[in-house]
Amino acid sequence: MIQYKTNYDKWAKYYDLIYEITPPDDSKIYKKYIKNSKSVLEMGIGTGRILLDFIQSNIQWTGIDNSEAMIEICKEKLEPLQPLKENVYLIKEDMAKLDIKKEKNSILNKTFDLIIYPSHSLMSVGEEKEQIKAICSGLKHLSNEGILIFDLHNPNNYLLNNEYQLLGSKTIKNKKYLLHSKSDVDFEKKLHSNHQILETERDKIELKSHEYFLYLEDVIRISDELGFEIVNLYGNYNFEIFNEFSEEMIFICKKKHG
Ligand SMILES: C[S@@+](CC[C@H](N)C(=O)[O-])C[C@H]1O[C@@H](n2cnc3c(N)ncnc32)[C@H](O)[C@@H]1O
Repeated sequence: MIQYKTNYDKWAKYYDLIYEITPPDDSKIYKKYIKNSKSVLEMGIGTGRILLDFIQSNIQWTGIDNSEAMIEICKEKLEPLQPLKENVYLIKEDMAKLDIKKEKNSILNKTFDLIIYPSHSLMSVGEEKEQIKAICSGLKHLSNEGILIFDLHNPNNYLLNNEYQLLGSKTIKNKKYLLHSKSDVDFEKKLHSNHQILETERDKIELKSHEYFLYLEDVIRISDELGFEIVNLYGNYNFEIFNEFSEEMIFICKKKHG
């Protein structure tokens, strides 16, 4: 079966721009949990958007991404940040296959206090089978009392817009940008596809993204299968508890003991 994947190598050039036009407010969630962490593993680090919010905190931050172009932009942004960039370790790897050793020749896995998959990164890995592998990679590298966080859209509340709508506009460095978007959902494949047009006076850049969604019941089943517990479930980035009308499902998880 065809697996729909977002081409992040194509997205890389526009990623930060698009997030500047429509800025998410997800950092708050990570701020709360980063406070008690010495080491963070970010799955799908992208251009380092979240990392850079916390770079001053002197946390050991490991970032995984399988897009060369996204990682390159992250590196460029870190380059001027001496000595803080020494706390950051970037690995180009598929998060579904991750195996970070404690030391180079060790057979022991390195573990982290906090593992995060921000901006729905888990949804861009592929279908449920791949998502399970990506969570397994996280659990393998999670310390015993560590926290694992992933956010997913609540598929019951997808706003379907088959026609392009204006999502946001902003003038950046004297250039006006308009961001238009439309989306479709294939409930059988559990696939949400977005089509974006980034418009300037001169250009129209078309971008596509594909995200595989999970229902809450799917995540509960997966948590039972993999042996982790959901200690909190938020419905948005303002820490409101999830309900059926929430836009987001933000899972705060721990390993199950005993
Ligand atoms: C929506 S972006 C999130 C980037 C960043 N975490 C943020 O919050 O801005 C998803 C990222 O996950 C990466 N990604 C997708 N599938 C992946 C996989 N199987 N392994 C590693 N990274 C992956 C993409 O390349 C992309 O950079």
